[in-house]
Amino acid sequence: MRIAIARETDAQEPRVAGTPETVKKFKALGADIAVVRGAGVKSGILDADYEAAGATIGDGVTKDADLVLKVRRPEASELAQYKKGALVVAIMDPYGNEAALKQMADAGLVAVAMELMPRITRAQSMDVLSSQANLAGYRAVIDGAAEYGRALPMMMTAAGTVPAAKVFVMGVGVAGLQAIATARRLGAVVTATDVRPATKEQVESLGAKFLAVEDEEFKNAQTAGGYAKEMSKEYQAKQAALTAEHIKKQDIVITTALIPGRPAPRLVSKEMVASMRPGSVLVDLAVERGGNVEGAELGRVVEVGGVKIVGHANVPGRLAASASALYAKNLLTFVETLIDKKEKKLAVNWDDELVKATVLTRDGAIVHPAFQPKTAA
Ligand code: NAI
Repeated sequence: MRIAIARETDAQEPRVAGTPETVKKFKALGADIAVVRGAGVKSGILDADYEAAGATIGDGVTKDADLVLKVRRPEASELAQYKKGALVVAIMDPYGNEAALKQMADAGLVAVAMELMPRITRAQSMDVLSSQANLAGYRAVIDGAAEYGRALPMMMTAAGTVPAAKVFVMGVGVAGLQAIATARRLGAVVTATDVRPATKEQVESLGAKFLAVEDEEFKNAQTAGGYAKEMSKEYQAKQAALTAEHIKKQDIVITTALIPGRPAPRLVSKEMVASMRPGSVLVDLAVERGGNVEGAELGRVVEVGGVKIVGHANVPGRLAASASALYAKNLLTFVETLIDKKEKKLAVNWDDELVKATVLTRDGAIVHPAFQPKTAA
């Protein structure tokens, strides 16, 4: 059983799919493990660290691997570097990228999308959306604080008092909860909003104040899967009115709102941005999915009337060492379920619900039901 940890080809991706810690664990499971030269450098891991953990280092080591671990979906140019029939496990970003899935199928790969892992108790330690969103929520507050020209905590000094900053978190999933906790640790006065009623108690338990239009629609806004629904036009209008009043008094706004399979909801209009005091900051964590804030630009910090809108791409990658450590651990716990520990070899149970939910391509075809080519009715 040969496992390889690939080097990311995208220059914007500093994370890596394995750490010395996971290398050791894979070795203990009986795997021969190889790391592409330089794969960990941007996450602060040297080739020598992987070697000390028992890996071999090389340039073309993915070529004879039965299983390749990656952060991002392999680009077309990389596909020739993998063995036919190999499993490639990564964050595949499959929606809208059916052509890339077809290429992986044509290359004979078994492409496995970690972000499609079911959010069930058994798979909690394999949940890359949570491990990465948690860090993004933390980093959003750090980035917001860095752009803000004042201190966050209240400080009473001989030279006068600095008031506590007001931080408003919009969208209280995994990222939003960590943003609230981080802003509180930094001493800010925190409010938060979400459309799922279950979040109210979570917000309050973190010492923040909850703010939302709590009507009948709100009471039913959570799907059975625990996600938000797209809200009606009427609800959105009421929500916008409430937000408009609140936002003009805020110093830092962090937005994290997402709806699975849909563009991010637009929560902050340019009028709301204009109503904020100069020096205020908005951090839009949804910018890669279209953005919650009007005027946010992917990969940029823009200034509108003295208000900064932060739209960094790949926010977990801004904490590459931490993000890689957690991601690598997510991969390890999943891959362990694909290994026959007695025989020390790969033994994928294709009927396992985790496998069925995440395998995109196999035997030359796209096998995942959500990505079947559309046939005319
Ligand atoms: P997400 O990234 O899909 O969305 C972020 C947040 O935006 C959500 O809380 C959503 O309700 C909110 N949102 C959507 N539209 C909005 C609007 N118009 N206004 C304000 N907020 C809006 O969500 P995430 O972080 O992936 O978590 C979703 C749920 O899944 C949560 O209940 C979380 O606790 C749960 N979860 C369960 C896990 C498990 O059981 N293994 C693991 C991780 C999360």
